[in-house]
Formats: sequence, C-alpha cells, structure tokens
Amino acid sequence: MTALTVALVVVIAAALVLRWRRPAWYWLVFGAAFAAVRVLFQYTSVMDACGLTVPPSRWRLAMARLANRPVPESRAPRILRLRPTRTGLVLRLKLRPGQDAFDVSASCDRLRHSFAMYGVTSRELRSGVVEVRMTGYDVLKRVQMPAKTDPAPMRVPVALREDGAVHYRDYRTVPHGLTLGATESGKSVYQRNLVAGLAPMDVALVGIDCKQGVELFPLARRFSALADNPNAALDLLEALVSHMEDVYQVIRAEQRITVNVPDAEIAADIWDLPDHLRPVPIVVLVDEVAELALFATKDEERRRDRIITALVRLAQLGRAAGIYLEICGQRFGSELGKGITMLRAQLTGRTAHRVNDESSANMAFGDIAPDAVLAAIQIPTETPGIAVTGDSSGGWARIRAPHTTLRQAVNLCNKHAGRTPDLPALAPFRPVAGTPALASEPLAKAAPATA
Ligand SMILES: Nc1ncnc2c1ncn2[C@@H]1O[C@H](COP(=O)(O)OP(=O)(O)OP(=O)(O)O)[C@@H](O)[C@H]1O
Ligand SMILES: [Mg+2]
Repeated sequence: MTALTVALVVVIAAALVLRWRRPAWYWLVFGAAFAAVRVLFQYTSVMDACGLTVPPSRWRLAMARLANRPVPESRAPRILRLRPTRTGLVLRLKLRPGQDAFDVSASCDRLRHSFAMYGVTSRELRSGVVEVRMTGYDVLKRVQMPAKTDPAPMRVPVALREDGAVHYRDYRTVPHGLTLGATESGKSVYQRNLVAGLAPMDVALVGIDCKQGVELFPLARRFSALADNPNAALDLLEALVSHMEDVYQVIRAEQRITVNVPDAEIAADIWDLPDHLRPVPIVVLVDEVAELALFATKDEERRRDRIITALVRLAQLGRAAGIYLEICGQRFGSELGKGITMLRAQLTGRTAHRVNDESSANMAFGDIAPDAVLAAIQIPTETPGIAVTGDSSGGWARIRAPHTTLRQAVNLCNKHAGRTPDLPALAPFRPVAGTPALASEPLAKAAPATA
C-alpha cells in the first residue's frame, strides 16, 4: 500500500514538473490522454452550453409523440474523428442542418475555456464538415519543429503556427514574399531559418544584406552571390535581370509548339523543362530593403531608381524563370519613393513581426487582411520571432520560427556548401575564398577573464 502511494506521488510530481518545465513532453505523456477523455465526456454538455446544438427536427418530434416517448434532446454536431497530435487534439465535426462554420469559429473562445485547452481554432474542410484544432499548451513559447514534415521541392517548413501546424514557405505557390517588423522583432532570424531550410535543396541562394553583410556573409559558403552595399546590389540585380532574360530564351527554344505537342507539355516556366535543361531556381534574399531605396545625392537617386526598377522587373517576370524574391525590412511604404508600392503589390506572401504602429502593419496587411493589422500591433515586445502571416485562403495565422542561432545556420550552410551552384552570370558576385565565413567547429571557449 505504501509503495503504491509513493509511486502515485512520484507520478503526480513528475507530471507537475513536466507540465511546468517541459509542456511538450507533458502533453505527449499525460496531457493528450486526459484531454481526449475530457473532451469526449463533456462534449454534449459543452456544445449545448456554447450554443452549438440544434433543436430536434419536426420529424424526430413527431416520431417521439407517436411512440409516446419524452421530447428528444437538442443535438450537437456529430464527431467524425478525434485525433491527438503532438501539440493538441484535432476534432472533425459534421454539422447539423442549420449550422454553419461561422457558428463554430465564433464559439472557439468559449470552447477553449470549456475544454480547458490553450487555444482553439476552426476551419471548414468541405461543406458541412469543420475541423476544430485545439492546442494543449503554448506551442509558440519554445518552438520545436516536428522531425517529420511534408517534403516538396521549393517548400520550406519555416515556422510553427499557433494551432500546432507547420507553416511552410512554398515558393512554387507564393513566389515572392515580404517580411516586415520593427527593429529586434525577429526578421533576420526568420530569414536565417529560410536559408537553413533552403540549404539542403537544389537551389541557388543570392543575398543582399545592406547591414554590411553581418547577417548573410557568415553563411557565404552556401550563397552563389552576395552583395553588402547598394552599389554591389545594383550590379547584382542587373546581372539577375540579364540571367532571367537568358532563361526565357532557353524556355522559348524548348517550346517548339506544333500540333503534336500536348497542351500539358508546352513549356511556360522552368518547371516544364526537361531535367537536363532546367536552370537552377534562385531565391534572392534582401535584408534591410529600405537601405536600397534611400538616397542623399543625385547619383544615389539614379542608383536607387535603377535598383527599384530591377527589383520590380524581377518581381513581375521572375517567377517563370525560377527567380523568387524574399524581401525583409522595417517599413516598406510609399515614403520610400516611387516604384515601392508597385513592387509591394507583387510580393504575395506577407509576414509581419512586431510593429510599433498601425501604418507599418498596414504595409503588410492593409490591402489583404485588415484584422491581421491589429494582431501584428499586439505582438508583445518580449516575444521576438512571433509574427502574423497571411495564408493562401485570405486568412491569417500567428507563427513563430524556431530560434536558429547564427552558429547553427553556419554549420548547416557549410555542410551543404557542395550544393552551391556556380551561375556564370553571377560569377563576379560569388563570395571569394577569403570571405570571413565562420568555421563550422564551435569557437573555443574564451579564457575566463581574470580580475
Ligand atoms: N523565433 C525566435 N525565437 C526566439 N527568439 C528570437 C526569435 N527571433 C528573434 N529572436 C530574438 O530576437 C533577437 C533579434 O532578432 P533579429 O536580429 O532577427 O531581429 P531583426 O528584426 O532582424 O532586427 P533588426 O531590424 O535590428 O535587424 C535575436 O537575437 C533573438 O535573440
Ligand atoms: Mg535584422
């Protein structure tokens, strides 16, 4: 008896400690089972209390009257599936006649409290079927990406969503992206995660980092071209534009449209070309974009206009040639001069880290998801890396990238340095052997300072 009590106390103590220090482990060991039992037991009463039941149909009332049975109860949506995940539970519901997906999404906060979950979101899967995703703990507090993600070419699992799902940056569906955020809000770490995700893929990385290269130059061994000041950036962007024109010549030469060629085989972008002809796709990462658009003298103004023109051309025409833009900055609005809003309109993927004012958030979401603007302003200062991202359905979600250190990113880039393609058009911008890229080995610990 005493042994049993001691074992019970040890298990309860372990559960409490896990819950406090390692919520993800607690969830896997205890939380998922407890929560699933709780949801199943309380389901009908909670749905009733949250106003998610429908009164019995006339047909059921008539049947009850005929059979002289008590009046049937209101019915909640039918549970099609309850699936525990590594971060929460996923509930698939079949709605009753008269209910809509908005009823469920409007009750998410009530469901969250009633089922004692950390977060609840819902989305419509198909007509009449809604998926309710619940998280058991704050998954964005310490981001741990799942070991297994859905692999696909040009698709990077870059962050975790607050509902526990993986957020992908998919260059094939959303070719160009814009990431905004105040200083120290996590933009460069987000971009570093993208580089780390792209490094093992067959892709050329091109970087423009006007913060004198402090963010991207350490990763130089995986980059096919780098620029650390606006002058070099201009030459690099113009070289990219001429590379893009060459790629279009390759696609045209391969088209050879005759009556015998089936529609699906006519090449219109690099992905339609046969493997041996396909040029390597290029992701162009630009950090601190405002530096490219600022000028003080007439010469700098001419340079700025040429840079913005090249960027706009890449954004408008680059996708089919396999050139994708990933632009980061603190603000990206019309105050940076002409051409900026035209460029912004081409940057479909929007991500906003913490911003300090509504107008900065508007630059990311004002024209696509107005309620995401408020969410971006509300991100607290003490959680850098949390961001709001627009998704393909027109909705938005809160995400956070894992905290990849510069050292980890350097190690990964060095490991995949052999994959760095040599693009003849960008050869002058290839970081040379002497670039102060960090060595892969951890730096030796500095000797403790003596008093
Ligand atoms: N996803 C994250 N998880 C945890 N901490 C983060 C995350 N992203 C950023 N941070 C913290 O915030 C700090 C600032 O991040 P980062 O350098 O990416 O900001 P930034 O937006 O690029 O700032 P700046 O505009 O000044 O370049 C990092 O050093 C890191 O400590
Ligand atoms: Mg930065």
